Amino acid sequence: MLRDRYGRSIEYLRLSVTDRCDLRCTYCIPKGFKGFEEPSHWLTFDEIERLVSAFARLGTERLRLTGGEPLLRRDLAGLAGRLSAIPGITDLSLSTNATRMTRHAAELRAAGVSRINVSLDSLDRGCMEQITGRDSLGQIMDGIMAAKDAGFDPIKINMVALRGVNDTQIDDMVGFCIEHGFTLRLIEAMPMGATGQDTTWLDLGPVEQRLRQRFKLMPQVARLGGGPARYLVTPDGRTSVGFITPMSQHFCGDCNRVRLAVDGTLYLCLGQEDKFEFRPMLRAGASDAELEDAIRHAITLKPERHEFREQPQKIVRFMAQTGG
Ligand code: GTP
Ligand code: 5AD
Ligand code: SF4
Repeated sequence: MLRDRYGRSIEYLRLSVTDRCDLRCTYCIPKGFKGFEEPSHWLTFDEIERLVSAFARLGTERLRLTGGEPLLRRDLAGLAGRLSAIPGITDLSLSTNATRMTRHAAELRAAGVSRINVSLDSLDRGCMEQITGRDSLGQIMDGIMAAKDAGFDPIKINMVALRGVNDTQIDDMVGFCIEHGFTLRLIEAMPMGATGQDTTWLDLGPVEQRLRQRFKLMPQVARLGGGPARYLVTPDGRTSVGFITPMSQHFCGDCNRVRLAVDGTLYLCLGQEDKFEFRPMLRAGASDAELEDAIRHAITLKPERHEFREQPQKIVRFMAQTGG
């Protein structure tokens, strides 16, 4: 089991398989951004499988494929199949914007992806265009329904709450998730990269109080997934609403995860610069034992917490570069 300097056990690896995306969510990728990683810097599937296997031997159980938009990486299902077969990996999940899900849902499920989280910030077509930079709602909805038809359960909807943009639409989104049996997670936007600077995050504390009353939500005891959300549940026990509150109430004390970027950089925290580069080692022919030693060392570099409130301009890399 990997344990960091603060006694936290690290059992969740988030793997960004590309930093590219077909959307440009305002809080995520700067408009017109061109500085994506060179494909020659991307870890190959063989390199990813070797590194993930080393993490798994050291106790990593949960793996999440993320990006950028992971389905832009060619043959993602092929990679998923290889990763889900690694001994010790018990939970392989995917975070996606669902624009390509109609084509890929069935093969991803067959490859062993058990859970998906989909970014959907609004049910209003114009508002989605404003946030994602293009008329994306129809395609995303088709993708979500294709995932449902393919049998993904749970499907979690990630809604980044933005003051003055989609905050009046939260109740509608709760209704939509109740209707379709999806889990909703409301997220406070974090200031990452140039984009984050003018993003107005919404304090979810008052929203939680209001939703509790309106939908008679109660605290959920069961743990859902491996992430930082705290959940409430409807009285019939069928719909969960999660709150991810990095800004108003951070959860770094319970952090269990690290992030591997597409170029082989392991970021120890979303909101800090601490990192370790694995690509040079992998390409210089490091042994399995050397990789495991490097992972143990990297985990000792994990900082205590992010400082998004204290230093909102600190992190210049944007979300898709780190793995959302
Ligand atoms: P499960 O709970 O396993 O379903 O996954 P998750 O909620 O960790 O994954 P997802 O990719 O859906 O992330 C949801 C949101 O939580 C995103 O906005 C993430 O950036 C945010 N998040 C996840 N982990 C961390 C973290 O360690 N620190 C911070 N500050 N935010 C995180
Ligand atoms: N703050 C909070 N969440 C973000 N995401 C992307 N950028 C940010 C940000 N700056 C979310 C996406 C996706 C998840 C993986 O991360 O909406 O659902
Ligand atoms: Fe793409 Fe996801 Fe970032 Fe939106 S949040 S631009 S869908 S990577």
